[in-house]
Amino acid sequence: MTSWWQKAVVYQVYPRSFQDSDGDGIGDLKGIISRLDYLEKLGIDAIWLSPVYKSPNDDNGYDISDYEDIMDEFGTMADMDELIAEGHKRNIKIIMDLVVNHTSDEHAWFVEAKQSKDNPYRDYYVWADPDAEGNPPNDLGSTFSGSAWEYSELTGQYYLHLFSKKQPDLNWENEKVRHAVYDMMNFWIDKGIGGFRMDVIDLVGKKPFEKITGNGPKLHDYLQEMHHATFGGKDLMTVGETWGATPEIAKLYSKPERDELSMVFQFEHSGLDQQPWKDKWDLQDLSIPALKEVFTKWQTELSSEGWNSLFWNNHDLPRIISRWGNDKDYRVESGKMLAILLHQQKGTPYIYQGEEIGMVNYPVESIDEVDDIESINMYNDRLARGYAKEDILKSINAKGRDNARTPMQWDYSENAGFTTGTPWLHVNPNYHEINVKQALEDSNSLFYTYQKLIQLRHDNPIVVWGDFTLVDTADENVFAYYRELDGQKWLVVTNFQAKKTSFELTEEPKSTIIQNYNDKTYQKGQLDLEPYEAVVFEIK
Ligand code: GLC
Repeated sequence: MTSWWQKAVVYQVYPRSFQDSDGDGIGDLKGIISRLDYLEKLGIDAIWLSPVYKSPNDDNGYDISDYEDIMDEFGTMADMDELIAEGHKRNIKIIMDLVVNHTSDEHAWFVEAKQSKDNPYRDYYVWADPDAEGNPPNDLGSTFSGSAWEYSELTGQYYLHLFSKKQPDLNWENEKVRHAVYDMMNFWIDKGIGGFRMDVIDLVGKKPFEKITGNGPKLHDYLQEMHHATFGGKDLMTVGETWGATPEIAKLYSKPERDELSMVFQFEHSGLDQQPWKDKWDLQDLSIPALKEVFTKWQTELSSEGWNSLFWNNHDLPRIISRWGNDKDYRVESGKMLAILLHQQKGTPYIYQGEEIGMVNYPVESIDEVDDIESINMYNDRLARGYAKEDILKSINAKGRDNARTPMQWDYSENAGFTTGTPWLHVNPNYHEINVKQALEDSNSLFYTYQKLIQLRHDNPIVVWGDFTLVDTADENVFAYYRELDGQKWLVVTNFQAKKTSFELTEEPKSTIIQNYNDKTYQKGQLDLEPYEAVVFEIK
């Protein structure tokens, strides 16, 4: 059985930075509605909407204080209903971000829970006595630096927070918590949404006292329970954020007969430019052969069982052109190469806002320019541990989350048309060259490559279902692969570097499907490839 999301392309909106409609410098729901025609033109099928719920914004909405209400800066529930309805008119579904590993410490459940040990909500969270010396129960660390345990004066116990101390972890072992989450999900399903993106969902089976966080023993039981209590049988799309997934684990989540999720985001490729066994701030160069190996592994392992997601970017990752492309000399060429390389694979592609116009990182010179809690906490932590300031800033500029969060660049007007007020985060000054207006007026822009890639997926079953085979290449920095379906065969060739090279085309191409050096023609034999050249041939 096929599902709509297998042929779909999803576009992620980070509402805070997408479009402001009321001049307060913060993007909002009305702003998103005003840009739906643009997204329809791009051709996407669904929007993954980063959290819009009530939140004190310690982690930009990933700390939710009310799951059934909208953040004041973003608008009202009426605006949300309108967004869903306006999306429907354009065949664009809204995928809600489900952040249920933790809540905000300002959520009513936590406000209650912290009052007393016998409060009815106490067990909604994870509490522990100090050890004999008064220290946290163990040395579990928070993703945002420091201990994962915070002392709560009122009751003399610690609570668990795998992220910031304003994001206390929910206790999924408590059935009441699980059912409260399912009720809330049904509230949103009843509104006509298209599904859920599930924030760090692989942590909900945690066993913190055994120091197990990801992939806990009950994780899949919980997901099956959730499936049956909420979206099961409803033709909704679900995608879990799972940093610790291997292909074997991804199949557990995404094999349809297991009644869990449609697919997961796995991050194996994304970890290739960090030093092994270190964290994301410890940089190393990307190896293209390693990237080929990882993509090939996932394409083959999930070819007949389970389903892949495909992405370069999201609100937690740096901009791909700055990261693995070339934002100096080949911004558009490398952007198109990366797009073609990803979007010709099997799985559901995700585009992060601004990716389709080739937005790039915005380097900072001092920590005062940084907003993101993860970067700020890491900066303070590493400074205290004796790291050089320059090295820390280098890591932040390479990997910091603000890179992806600068406001969307719409046009040439002040603040790139994002707001008439003061933007909450600096606008990249390069909006004078990189913006939507420019992209739409230039038939050769990256935007039209994305538009075409989406159209190719919609029109060609080979893109959706075809088998993937890696092609051996003389130059290891050329990434080439075949897609094959029912006697049809396409060949994708990409030069993943800033210099010329060559590739042996062993078959005469029937036609060229898409290319990023427009005036070139191709024949069987040795192809001379330009820097970051990408071309897709129909072979049979
Ligand atoms: C996910 C989100 C990230 C957030 C974290 C905690 O990784 O994508 O933005 O900070 O979970 O909710």
